[in-house]
Amino acid sequence: MIITDSTRSRFDREVAKYPAEQKQSAVMACLAIVQQEEGFVSKEAEKAIADYLGMAPIAVHEVTTFYNMYNQHPVGKFKLNVCTNLPCQLRDGAKALHHLEQRLGIRMGETTADGLFTLQQSECLGACADSPVMLVNDRTMCSFMSNDKLDQLVDGLRQSEGKA
Ligand code: FES
Repeated sequence: MIITDSTRSRFDREVAKYPAEQKQSAVMACLAIVQQEEGFVSKEAEKAIADYLGMAPIAVHEVTTFYNMYNQHPVGKFKLNVCTNLPCQLRDGAKALHHLEQRLGIRMGETTADGLFTLQQSECLGACADSPVMLVNDRTMCSFMSNDKLDQLVDGLRQSEGKA
């Protein structure tokens, strides 16, 4: 991946927030910028960021793979992350994930053929008491997701794209 001038200037702004000898602290921000621009963080992008920040590519890769908000592959327009950590498992987290698999016709980790939905599981979202819980596009938290609410969510997102 070649870093464009506009991307580089965005990186520069993040690096400027830290002391010169600690520019590696901007790695998460640089990864977020790439994901915002490309939709995911490719191995080439990790290498470009590593070169830019003077880090080993494996050190950048460790960050990408530690946080599951970074997409390591292209994803659908709507990324649905269902929490399946233990407290949620005890309160229908897996059931919600399974319902979405059936409703969308894909398995966990896959994307629908129309490119609209990617279904993933996630680690604890910090809202165990609201289980089943899920996150839409890394931003919108949805709580108490019964099968009816899951259906409403999928229908609403499809409608928003004119694909209902
Ligand atoms: S275990 Fe699911 S939100 Fe905490």
